[in-house]
Amino acid sequence: MKIAVCPGSFDPVTLGHLDIIERASKLFDKVIVLVSFNKNKNKAVFSTKERIEMIIAVTKDLDNVVVDCFDGLLADYLKMTGAEVIVKGLRAVSDFEYEFQMALANKKLYNDAETVFLTTAGENMFLSSSVVKEIASFGGDISGFVSPAILEKIKNRLCPNTDAQQADNAV
Ligand code: COA
Repeated sequence: MKIAVCPGSFDPVTLGHLDIIERASKLFDKVIVLVSFNKNKNKAVFSTKERIEMIIAVTKDLDNVVVDCFDGLLADYLKMTGAEVIVKGLRAVSDFEYEFQMALANKKLYNDAETVFLTTAGENMFLSSSVVKEIASFGGDISGFVSPAILEKIKNRLCPNTDAQQADNAV
């Protein structure tokens, strides 16, 4: 059984991630979407539990996709689970150097680890979780960037003047 892991911060999961996850689910027997931790990033907006719940909500129709989280090295997670493939989306040439470095480091840590890069769909080239958070925080329309299943949750957390945020602010 070929098991692939799609790792990321997913803060929050976007349509760009979902495109990669869906395509990976057609290529591999099982795909684990792994909420993992990038030590170079500041505190996440959404808790680990919320990020997992959002990924479960947007992948519920994909039978061979499961969600997990791991606060350690990706290479160790692969060793632990028997997964051998890391799937990453490449958005632009600018992603390449960093991703290349990560792929080589992961291979060095665990020789069986192969990284497979899928080219990100053209319409998602500019997309990132940060772009979604920034647009939402100014009250902009993020419906083209995230699944309808999690749209309200993100808006409630980040959009100014929503009932939920007013309640947050009042505390
Ligand atoms: N379409 C649109 N956007 C995408 C995308 C796609 N297909 N794929 C990624 N992105 C976005 C992400 O949302 C993210 O946006 P953000 O920076 O605004 O949050 C950005 O591109 C970068 O994504 P990525 O390179 O996957 O970084 P990440 O922080 O989400 O994930 C980890 C990095 C967590 C996978 C990595 O740090 C890791 O493996 N950590 C575990 C510890 C470890 O093993 N470290 C490496 C040692 S070699």
